Amino acid sequence: MLIVNTVCEAKKILRDIKNSGKSIGFVPTMGYLHSGHISLVDQSKKDNDFTVVSIFVNPTQFGPNEDLDKYPRNFVRDEKLLRDAGVDMVFYPSVETMYPDGYATFVNVERVTDPLCGAKRPGHFRGVATIVCKLFNIVSPDKSYFGLKDYQQVIVIKRMVEDLNMDVDVVGMPIVRESDGLAMSSRNVYLSPDERLSALSLSRSFPLVEKKLKSGERRASVIIKDVEDFISSHPYSRIDYVEIVDKDSLEKLDFIDRPFLIAMAVFINKTRLIDNKIFEV
Ligand code: PAF
Repeated sequence: MLIVNTVCEAKKILRDIKNSGKSIGFVPTMGYLHSGHISLVDQSKKDNDFTVVSIFVNPTQFGPNEDLDKYPRNFVRDEKLLRDAGVDMVFYPSVETMYPDGYATFVNVERVTDPLCGAKRPGHFRGVATIVCKLFNIVSPDKSYFGLKDYQQVIVIKRMVEDLNMDVDVVGMPIVRESDGLAMSSRNVYLSPDERLSALSLSRSFPLVEKKLKSGERRASVIIKDVEDFISSHPYSRIDYVEIVDKDSLEKLDFIDRPFLIAMAVFINKTRLIDNKIFEV
């Protein structure tokens, strides 16, 4: 497994791979990997001849009061996981490599970044789109893999790829959950055992939605209220948002008349967790 730290070396290696007729699959990550990331690697290996994973905790997607400094990092552990998973190359640049002095260019995707996490984390998707655009330019992947836990991120990246005529197929992969339903996240490591119990309220709220729909309820506000009451009844929890939106445009739905996404962000003490599920009606 190659470990590459500079843009120049990464581009050279990947140009040679492309010229030899091989397809490149790419999994961008911020490290501290879990089974969700490995499921993306596995899919990339199935679909492509050469799999690249990037590990970069991207400062531009964190707000001033967010967890950039304490975001978990452990390259030695990640490297072993990726080697075992059969990854061909890891791109592991420094902040100075990705954002050298004088850096001034950002990618701003409009509209689909307005609701949900976009509303709650100003600037977040500008940072995500910028770094993913740069990584795509460096890696030139045929396909790139993202977990659908960050559902809005996948929509934003697909929009960017289409609008900027990028030649990459963006693949959204199913959420990987712990056996008790907790969506896998690098941030789960922040949770104490008690907090982790409360964190289960996110995924455990989905059967409530199912039940409401079965009973014929179609008012989004009523379903959201049920979910919010359920989650709030758990200790340490503070709701950032619970929204019901169109699964493609992410526009808010008042009345449910089509397949929809329920998406939520909840603070469990200081840890902000997200989850979502699509419901067909
Ligand atoms: O989902 C993530 O881990 C990050 O947002 C990404 C896509 C690697 C960009 O920094």
